[in-house]
This record gives sequence, structure tokens and C-alpha cells, in this order.
Amino acid sequence: MSELITINGQAHEIDVDGDMPLLWFLRDKLEFTGTKFGCGSGLCGACTVHVDGQATRSCITPVATLAGKKITTIEGLSENGDHPLQKAWLNNKVPQCGYCQAGQIMNAASLLAVNVAPSEEEIDTAMQGNICRCGTYQRIKKAIGEAAQ
Ligand code: FES
Repeated sequence: MSELITINGQAHEIDVDGDMPLLWFLRDKLEFTGTKFGCGSGLCGACTVHVDGQATRSCITPVATLAGKKITTIEGLSENGDHPLQKAWLNNKVPQCGYCQAGQIMNAASLLAVNVAPSEEEIDTAMQGNICRCGTYQRIKKAIGEAAQ
């Protein structure tokens, strides 16, 4: 019998090769395509999701290691796209091309879950591993500060 993984509140069987990275299980198997492939090496943050609330790089996390865990993707962060970060992202027109932004928001959400009022320095430290080729860093920081209020 295959193991179960909970994704955005729904249980799914891990019915793929256990070495498959969570990113591809999400995208190819379950069609949660909000989570993006950037580097595939754990270096850019585009693929960030939450595993039991912790920001995790899904491109380097084998799905077999996640049996019994709760995964949240950008699709499951809020009911109607109304998480304070999503609202602040829209308000500040953060995205340019948008490709990295789901990972940015998921990483920021894990920061705010443990630190409701992060300083600028704490935001910089938490977000430094999430790369944006368009250079939207200032707007990302502003939006996180706004969502934290
Ligand atoms: Fe996973 Fe870059 S795609 S960290």
C-alpha cells in the first residue's frame, strides 16, 4: 500500500517513484502549477512550498520523504487569494514577470508565521535565498512590511 501525503488539505497517494522531487509530483501529477521550476538545485527559491509549515525547496525534496506530512502550495495559502501577503503583493504591484513570486510569497509566509513583525534586517535575512531576475526586491520587502502590520 502506498503512503499518503496531504496537499492543501487533501490526502493523495504517493503513487510515483519515491525519488521524484515534490516539485514534479505537484506540477505533473496533481497540476498544482503555481509552484515553479527555476534551478532544480535548491538555489533560487522559485519552488518554495511549506512542509508542516516550514519553507521547503520542493525541487530537491524527494516525495517519499514526505509521507504523513502536510504540504501547502501557493494554491492552498488562502481560500480566495486573500492572505495578507497576497493582498500586499497586489497593492504594491510586486511582480514583474512573476515567475519567482509564488516562491517569494511562500517563503515570506513562513517568516510571518513565526515573526509577526519582522524588522527590515530580519526580512532581508529570511528572503535572501529567493532570487528574482527582475529585481523586485524593494517591492517584495515593502509588501512584507505592509502584510506584517
Ligand atoms: Fe528549487 Fe530553484 S527550483 S530552488
